[in-house]
Amino acid sequence: MIALASDHGGFEFKERTKALLDSLSLAWKDFGTDSDESVDYPDYAHAAAEAILRGECDRGIFICGTGIGISLAANRHAGIRAAACQIPEAARMSRLHNDANVLALGQRLIDWETAEGMIRIWLDTPFEGGRHERRIRKIEIE
Ligand code: RB5
Repeated sequence: MIALASDHGGFEFKERTKALLDSLSLAWKDFGTDSDESVDYPDYAHAAAEAILRGECDRGIFICGTGIGISLAANRHAGIRAAACQIPEAARMSRLHNDANVLALGQRLIDWETAEGMIRIWLDTPFEGGRHERRIRKIEIE
């Protein structure tokens, strides 16, 4: 189950992501927002991050204007590794080396074709493990 979250700045991409995941037969749960009316991205980041930590969702795709604010909020949760990515190689590396469990995208920074390509890569790329396992364990400070 993939947790989806956005603010108004990422709403359109979130809706497109649902259609993409449907076409891939992947289940999703939408934590809002539900329109392009102005809202606060932390509210949606926190709700979706908590669902991942509860085990209700396996990972998430979070979208705001830049991908920055929504990833900052998500990363306040221990156990969430949200990667704000703007190019496909970053999305690939966020899985291979960082085991990112949230992909954060910025609708105002990239076009949908780029976003779609990054989502596909991110979903398909496994964590490499090995030495990276030790490093991601060291990310948590409590
Ligand atoms: C909203 O205007 C915008 O600040 C938000 O979507 C995001 O880009 C914040 O990081």
